[in-house]
Amino acid sequence: MRTHVIDHPLVDHKLTTLRDERTDSPTFRRLTDELVTLLAYEATRDVRVEATSITTPVSPTAGVKLATPKPLVVPILRAGLGMLDGMVRLLPTAEVGFLGMVRNEETLEASTYAERLPDDLSGRQCYVLDPMLATGGTLAAAIRFLTDRGADHITAICLLAAPEGCARLEQELADLDVPVTIVTAAMDERLNDKGYIVPGLGDAGDRLYG
Ligand code: PRP
Repeated sequence: MRTHVIDHPLVDHKLTTLRDERTDSPTFRRLTDELVTLLAYEATRDVRVEATSITTPVSPTAGVKLATPKPLVVPILRAGLGMLDGMVRLLPTAEVGFLGMVRNEETLEASTYAERLPDDLSGRQCYVLDPMLATGGTLAAAIRFLTDRGADHITAICLLAAPEGCARLEQELADLDVPVTIVTAAMDERLNDKGYIVPGLGDAGDRLYG
């Protein structure tokens, strides 16, 4: 598994406002959208393309287009939905599938309550959207869901990650022979005893949708 923490002043600037408890929901949604587009630019660095040829007004030339099958974007409901528009702005032709997952706030275990994904993901590149990588239970289950259906390349885009969650993913996905990359705006310090990321930004789902 590869973890890529984006190092960019604009990302840091937007993330600082996002973290601030005084930031209201409309601003939080807008900043999430903007941040995702910045993260998506890095996260799609290895999106598959294939050769094509076109003719400019001046001459024929070679270029590239997105390869088929098209990438699949998978927001994890509910909070991941706030990241979808920012992602498809960069990949407008991507297919979108949905996974509804919730973390039990007592046990911190993740469970799946909804799923709308293609049955066969053989040969598909998948981009998973979830703002928080805390204990890692949600993302581990989501990635396993996708690879069980045949996805062969996974990139997860998170606003924030905790070291404990990354370590758990490393451990739980060690047997996967599918490349997994985590792209995040920041690696925070730790989890607190409630499983919240510290310093974090609170509950992303609540801050997006109230
Ligand atoms: C939050 C967050 C992640 C998950 C992270 O979702 O959006 O999906 O918890 O926690 P983990 O890494 O410890 O599994 P939540 O369960 O609160 O659902 P929501 O998106 O509907 O608010």
